[in-house]
Parts: sequence; C-alpha cells; structure tokens
Amino acid sequence: MGTMDEMVGTSPAICAVFDLVRKMANIEMPVLITGETGTGKELTAQAIHERSLRKHGPFVPINCGAIPETLLESELFGHERGAFTGAIQQKKGKLEAAAGGTLFLDEVGDLLSSLQVKLLRFLQEGTFERVGGQETLHVDARVLAATNVDLKTAIDKNLFREDLYYRLGVLHIHLPPLRDQGEDTLLMAMVFLKQATMTYRKTIRGYTPQAVDALRAYSWPGNVRELSNRVRRAVVMTEEMEITPHDLDLAVEELQPVDSLDSLRAAHRRIEMELLVKAISLHHGNLTRVARDLEVSRSTLYRKLRTYGLEKFVPAATPLSFGSRPKSKKPARFSAQESGGGVPSESTVANLALEPTDQIPQSV
Ligand SMILES: Nc1ncnc2c1ncn2[C@@H]1O[C@H](COP(=O)(O)OP(=O)(O)OP(=O)(O)O)[C@@H](O)[C@H]1O
Ligand SMILES: [Mg+2]
Repeated sequence: MGTMDEMVGTSPAICAVFDLVRKMANIEMPVLITGETGTGKELTAQAIHERSLRKHGPFVPINCGAIPETLLESELFGHERGAFTGAIQQKKGKLEAAAGGTLFLDEVGDLLSSLQVKLLRFLQEGTFERVGGQETLHVDARVLAATNVDLKTAIDKNLFREDLYYRLGVLHIHLPPLRDQGEDTLLMAMVFLKQATMTYRKTIRGYTPQAVDALRAYSWPGNVRELSNRVRRAVVMTEEMEITPHDLDLAVEELQPVDSLDSLRAAHRRIEMELLVKAISLHHGNLTRVARDLEVSRSTLYRKLRTYGLEKFVPAATPLSFGSRPKSKKPARFSAQESGGGVPSESTVANLALEPTDQIPQSV
C-alpha cells in the first residue's frame, strides 16, 4: 500500500496498481496498460517513466488512434527526404525522439498491421528504418503501450497480431473503473475541488450531503476524467459555498446506489469516507466539530483522515497565499505533538487550504 504523488487513491484496487507501477518501473520491458476511457492510463505510463532509470530521459507520447494512417508511420519512425510527396527534408520520428527515455504508444490497438510488424521488429531487435530510408537504425527506447479496446478480441478478428500482443503484454497493468474504486471517488472529488477552487479563486467549502450521495451513486462511465470535468464545471458555475448535485449536473432521481453487494470491509471504508467528507464540508474543516459530530476522539479522527488521504483537505487556519490573519495570532491547530505525529504541520496544511482565511473559523 502507499500513495503516488501524481496519482490519487487509497482504495485497495488503486493501491494494487501503485504497487505494480513501482515493481515494473525498473524492469526494462514494455508494459501494457489497459482500462476504460479516462481511468488514468497515460498518467500511469508517466508514473512508470518517472520511477524508472530513464526518468531523466524524454517521455514521448503518441496517439496511434488520432493520427491519419498515412502519417502515422512517418510520425513514429520518421522519414527521409523525398520519401513521399511533401517530404522536403529528413525528419526524425517519435521513436528517435524517445532515445534514452520512454515511448508511450497510446491506443496501440489502432495500429495498422504493417506498422504492427515494424513495431514488433523494433521490440525484438531494437532496429527500424525511417520511411523511404535504407539505413537500419538502432534506438534505445522503452515502449509503454495503452489501449481501451480488448486486444484479445482484436486478435480473434485478425486486427491485432498475437505475437505483438505477447511482446507488449508480458507486463500488464489493468486500471480499475472508478465505480470499482469505492472511496476513491470522494477523495478525488475533494482533490479536484481543491485544485479548481485554487485555479478559479473561488471560496467553496465542500459538497452538500446530497452531492456526496450523488457522487457515490453515479456510475462514472467516463471515469476520472469525467469526475474531474464535472467538478471543475461545478466550481466555475456555482455561486454558493457548497457544491450541489445540480452543479455537478447529476440528476439525483436517475442515480442508483452502486453498492448492491460488497464485502463488509469495503462497505465500511466507503461509509466512513462518505461521513468524513460530509462532515468536513459541513464544518468547513473544523476538526473539533467534525470529531464531535462523528463521536470519535480527535486522535481517531486524525488517524481516519490519514487512512483515507483526507488530511490535506482540512482547511488551515491561514492559507499563506491569502493571508489576512494578523501575524501575532497563534496557529490554531494541528501541532505535531497534539496529534501524536504524522499529521501535517500547520504550514503544510496552510499551503493546501481550500479557501481564504476570513471564512475559516479559528477556534479549534
Ligand atoms: N488516480 C488518479 N489521480 C488523479 N488524477 C487522475 C487519476 N487517474 C486519472 N486522473 C486524471 O484523469 C484524467 C484522465 O487520465 P488519463 O488521460 O491518464 O486517462 P486515460 O486512461 O489515458 O484516458 P483515455 O482512455 O481517454 O485516453 C487526467 O486529467 C488525469 O490527470
Ligand atoms: Mg489516454
């Protein structure tokens, strides 16, 4: 278990992904990353690159589905002058640009079969030729690939080469859909809310209880990207202090609770997360009141906040960037001694605060 800077999540499903990222980062082999749209495949590829020995080299993404077939070969492998009409000078491709680093082949399932052969050869021998070129080139680049189509089905339909699939997919990471990540939906909703309030300089203290229920009940077909977009839109549109289901454009009556049958442990985590987010929003991060409402001690509350990655979302006494509190006033909360260690210091919390000071009660 553990966190990853660029990726948010504390659910067992996403922690298993973080473990794989760490283990696979330093193995010099391709990794196939699969998952529904918006689940974080590109982010995962970046996380692998940044933990690998190639982290100081380039990370070069190319979307095999977005580039017209006729251009893709030259984009990927480069071309020689005169290779085709319009090729007025030699051009290096993305593969050469990734030398010493990582090439990320997004939507690899869309590669045409002639390019699949060329890629397979590169994976096996490390060699290729530019379009229209005679010279065999060697490049030291690690390949990571992603797809949201089922490659096994594509193989059955003869659209994808089985030998390439086995080359690419020795190491495989499957990203869970957001609806299977339990409490992570709410954690991410808090993270994106904080980011958006800072970007758009809005004062928003959290989600209404109905919005928390709506976030939980919705099935998120567009996964993390959809969540991030809905939260950003809500922050831009709202004129209130709390985000409602309406701001998120989630029609409550259409929502079905997703937890029909689940393990007790998973249900327990989700309910705890839900109550914490509701209470933090309601009390604007005032931990004394949150602890009182939830009928737990402050040390239990701190422990829970840490477990769910929520400790960063408790507004501080004084966000430095907005600072209107007189300097002489003592920090109101969260000293390390008080919490028994591990809880963010006042300055850490301050930097992460959700909103301007004036609105925040100082009396904890
Ligand atoms: N675990 C996560 N924590 C924080 N942000 C995330 C996480 N997963 C995804 N995101 C964010 O969600 C958005 C979509 O992620 P990304 O582009 O990596 O998904 P994808 O699987 O490649 O999507 P697509 O299939 O549509 O290409 C990005 O803004 C990314 O930063
Ligand atoms: Mg992507």
